[in-house]
Amino acid sequence: MSEPVIRAENLAVAFDGRTIFKDVTFEVRRGEIFVILGGSGCGKSTLLKALIGLVPLSAGHAFLLGEDLGALDDTARRALLRRIGVMWQSGALFGSMTLAENVELPLEEHTDLPRTAREALARAKLGMVGLGDAALRLPAEISGGMAKRAGIARAMALDPPLLFLDEPSAGLDPITSAGLDKLIREIAQETGTTFVVVTHELQSILAIGDRCIMLDKTAQGMIAEGDPKRLREESEHPTVRAFFRREAA
Ligand SMILES: Nc1ncnc2c1ncn2[C@@H]1O[C@H](COP(=O)(O)OP(=O)(O)O)[C@@H](O)[C@H]1O
Ligand SMILES: [Mg+2]
Repeated sequence: MSEPVIRAENLAVAFDGRTIFKDVTFEVRRGEIFVILGGSGCGKSTLLKALIGLVPLSAGHAFLLGEDLGALDDTARRALLRRIGVMWQSGALFGSMTLAENVELPLEEHTDLPRTAREALARAKLGMVGLGDAALRLPAEISGGMAKRAGIARAMALDPPLLFLDEPSAGLDPITSAGLDKLIREIAQETGTTFVVVTHELQSILAIGDRCIMLDKTAQGMIAEGDPKRLREESEHPTVRAFFRREAA
């Protein structure tokens, strides 16, 4: 079997001595959509940040695209992080720039491509997320769902083999949210990109998740791992059952 895209071994994070999670161990395989789920405040965003070194690990090791992030020097670390696209939960677009200019930003920052090439790539990425006609619009002129699509286009600007999306459907209505799920599936199929998606929307998890882990605040770590559809049928854990079957715990 090929090397996993992410290998997380016994990860732990603590802030000011307070453990957020510990013993978090999982693998993400090439080309899959891997979902991190769990209630508000259980550490989902913190786990994403810890995976890419933005939050220090108090224990464990994270291997990304075959490399141990913690063991790399600055240059190698930057090169590795360039291959990981991220759309943060709060990752807004720059309001004074068009969608195309927003998508061009990572290209300006990380490549020496001439402007015409950057523009062409930005248009292509916007086309992939269904915003080919909206390239010259400003963020204030588009809907919330379109803004999320543009955010995904920006995260894909450098053609990352690995893409993190932190709660992409938060705040969207169910139909827009379902459209976003479909888009994520299409991108995964067409490009072979590996996705790590944070969400606590049950419909999304069942629609896009090949595998998932569930974090829990009380347990300070993982309480489930596997195919979400199987977890729904088979999990004996009261919190996991409650979530997947919408029952009271
Ligand atoms: N930089 C930080 N310093 C201190 N506490 C933090 C920091 N970042 C997050 N936390 C705390 O860690 C917990 C998990 O936060 P977060 O990862 O944002 O949860 P989620 O994304 O699952 O809603 C919360 O209690 C939050 O207040
Ligand atoms: Mg979060």
